[in-house]
Amino acid sequence: MRENRPVIALDFPSFDDVKSFLAQFPTEEKLYVKIGMELYYAAGPEIVRYVKMLGHSVFLDLKLHDIPNTVKSAMKVLSELGVDMTNVHAAGGVDMMKAAREGLGQGPKLIAVTQLTSTSEEQMHSDQNIQTSLTESVAHYARKTAEAGLDGVVCSAHEVEAIKAATSQDFICLTPGIRPAGSAIGDQKRVMTPSDARAIGSDYIVVGRPVTQAQDPVEAYRAIKAEWTGL
Ligand code: C5P
Repeated sequence: MRENRPVIALDFPSFDDVKSFLAQFPTEEKLYVKIGMELYYAAGPEIVRYVKMLGHSVFLDLKLHDIPNTVKSAMKVLSELGVDMTNVHAAGGVDMMKAAREGLGQGPKLIAVTQLTSTSEEQMHSDQNIQTSLTESVAHYARKTAEAGLDGVVCSAHEVEAIKAATSQDFICLTPGIRPAGSAIGDQKRVMTPSDARAIGSDYIVVGRPVTQAQDPVEAYRAIKAEWTGL
């Protein structure tokens, strides 16, 4: 289940920025990239088609959350774009997640966000009126995600063990908040190195600024990939 390529978060404001970033890599080097809301809303579906045309794999991180029928139709559109992986909010419920899968089809990976890592336990209690521990809420959403037939969740690397214990070892844990030893943490609070993420069982790591803001992005990417794959 483990993906050997770190997923690069293309957190750029425009199509042109993405083009110049990707142009630094040799054409035969096929990447796995994450396209999030900012870039997708700025550049539109064309950005996905462009990146796919270059032969890269795409995780479209749009976190859908709506009534099942709407999510199903939206997922059908995303499947036609050829995305390799996309996601929903588990809070949308099991029926919504099942509808998302129906719309997307069986080919692409479909994962869910449980609790956003920006949500504290206190906020979860007061804003969502969920009165369990944060870890229990995350595990609960992960079980519901598995029950709906999805492939896994986005989570903090620190939650991987609990999530796999609540679901199965095959359940995908995709973990952002990854920083190579000695690099700037930025606004991330709880980070983990690629090798530690591997050791605790992450299946995919997402890395943004340590690659996109590096002086030499290709070299930074390769170093992180080597640390992640242990090669
Ligand atoms: O630049 P950096 O490596 O911090 O980027 C991480 C990426 O993963 C960003 O696109 C960020 O929005 C996303 N992300 C995250 N933490 C989460 C969920 C998503 O950093 N819990």
